[in-house]
Parts: sequence; structure tokens; C-alpha cells
Amino acid sequence: MDKRKILIQLDSDRHASVFDRVVAIDAGADELFAYGSVKPEHVQGLVHGAIFTRDAKELKNTAIFVGGSDVTAGETLMAEAVKHMLPKFGLRVSIMLDANGANTTAAAAVRAASRHLELKGAKAIVLGGTGPVGQRVARLLAGEGAEVRVGSRQQAKAMTVCTEIIKRLPNAKLEPIGTSSEAELREGLADRTLVVAAGAAGIGLLSKSLRDACPNLKVAIDLNAVPPLGIEGIGVGDKAIDQAGVICYGAIGVGGTKMKVHRAAVASLFTSNDKILDAEEIYLLAKQF
Ligand SMILES: NC(=O)c1ccc[n+]([C@@H]2O[C@H](COP(=O)([O-])OP(=O)(O)OC[C@H]3O[C@@H](n4cnc5c(N)ncnc54)[C@H](OP(=O)(O)O)[C@@H]3O)[C@@H](O)[C@H]2O)c1
Repeated sequence: MDKRKILIQLDSDRHASVFDRVVAIDAGADELFAYGSVKPEHVQGLVHGAIFTRDAKELKNTAIFVGGSDVTAGETLMAEAVKHMLPKFGLRVSIMLDANGANTTAAAAVRAASRHLELKGAKAIVLGGTGPVGQRVARLLAGEGAEVRVGSRQQAKAMTVCTEIIKRLPNAKLEPIGTSSEAELREGLADRTLVVAAGAAGIGLLSKSLRDACPNLKVAIDLNAVPPLGIEGIGVGDKAIDQAGVICYGAIGVGGTKMKVHRAAVASLFTSNDKILDAEEIYLLAKQF
């Protein structure tokens, strides 16, 4: 009989996320070992506890989820955890990063866009493109062959994001765009067919009048659920709502897919012991929804 499925949750926040714990149970984990305030120096012992306890052939029933509200801290914990596995001896467990929901949210947003647009060659702009979610949206869109403008109030910040993405995807078509003035934003939006607003919660980034002035726009996705919303005129629950020829999604409209993707990703951890799920791998799972 298969061993019980154990998910080990490594969270950089003081209290390991209740949200992630609920999803883990709903995704089929039988047992959840949730650790808060996890620092890189704690990871080796936690990983060794995971990989040295069951036979290699049973290790698919143990997995690690890296969460927490600080995405950079999560990335560090993930890298540290991978470092302490021993794949040469089959002593490893599957692992997934979804700190602050960044990977599942970005994957769900790009999946939503792909339902209405051919992403290859699409002209996209990601507003708030320097945050963890926006960076991942830009990365996934670029990976699908879209031409992506990364928007930031500081063009230099957007440039740093583009440079990082190009290190992973040398053929990516990316352009950093300043968005601090209406004129810059108007220029950045001019020929775009897809806009994704991934700005901070409660920050309006795109006015209705400016959006209406984008003649080529086909899809508009806002990931900010906290009023004022990121794109004026899109309801938070909008899901593929046609507004004068533009298909619109609000944050909760994307959220249903995000939840499915999150559950599917956790469930997939228990299908083998060698999965490393970051944005790209999670996006692949999102394509089924
Ligand atoms: N549905 C979900 O499950 C879910 C999960 C995660 C996140 N989200 C939402 O997705 C969005 C993006 O998340 P995130 O964590 O990546 O966001 P974030 O890091 O808080 O902010 C993203 C970007 O917004 C810009 N920004 C910040 N303050 C601003 C201001 N006062 N005026 C204009 N721009 C400002 C910044 O870009 P610049 O400084 O470069 O301009 C920042 O890099 C948020 O609205 C978040 O709530 C939803």
C-alpha cells in the first residue's frame, strides 16, 4: 500500500500560510508539516528529514511546498532545498515554489490570455511588471513568443527585469517601458493587443479613457483585487466579459483558474519524486484548464 502523502510546507512568514495549508489538504495531502519563520540555514535539516526517512521508491509520497509572502525569500528557500537533495542516489522529493501565490497567479493570468489570443507574436504590456507576479507574467508571455513591454514607474527597474528574463530566455522579445506619465503610458499601450495589470494591491494603473484609446486591444487582465482596481472599468469578478470588443478579466475572474492550478500543482508533486515546479512548470499544468 502507498505511504501517506506528506507535504512539508516551508514558509518564511512567522505563521505558515493558512491559505496554502487549506489548498494542500484539498489537493490530496494526507499530512501537512508546516514550518514558519524558515530561514535558509534551517533548510538542510528539514530536507534531510524528508529524503532520508522513506525508501527511494516511496519518496514520491513526500513533497515540499515553499510559500510565504516574501517571494525573494521563497526563491532562496527553494534553491537551498534543491541544493540539499541527493538526486544521484534517488534521494530527493518533489518541490514547488508558490510564495505569495506568484507562480499560480501568473500562470492563471497567462492561461486566461491564451484562451482569447495567439500568444506567439502577441503584443503585450505588463503594467506593474517589476513585482513578483508581473515579472512572472512577462516571463511566461515571452516564453510563449509574445512581444512583451514591461512597465514600471522607473524604466531602469523595468530594464533590470528584462535583463533577468533574457538570461533565461535569450530569444525573448522584451522592452522596458516607463509608465510614470500619461504620455509614456499612452505610448507604451499604443499598439498592444494584451494588457496585464499586475500592480500593487489598491493601486489604479490604467484609466478607462486611456484603455478606450487603445484601438488594437483584445484582452485586458487586472490582477489587483483591492479597490481602487488596477484597470478602471473591469469588475473584480469579471471573467471573459466582452467590453466593446475587449475581453476583460478581473482578479477574482482569474482566481478560479489560479485555485485549480494551485491544487493541480500540489497533486502533481505526489506523482514522482523529481519535480521542481517553478513558474514555467506550473504554467504547463495551467494549460489543462
Ligand atoms: N489573486 C491572487 O491570488 C493573487 C496572488 C498574488 C498577487 N495578487 C495580486 O497581483 C498583483 C501583483 O502582485 P505583486 O505581489 O507582484 O505586487 P507588488 O510587488 O506589491 O507590486 C507590483 C508593482 O506595482 C508597482 N507599484 C507599487 N506601488 C505603486 C504605486 N503606489 N503606484 C504605482 N505603481 C506601484 C511597483 O512597480 P514599479 O515600482 O516598478 O512601478 C511594483 O513592483 C497585486 O495586486 C496582488 O494583490 C493576486
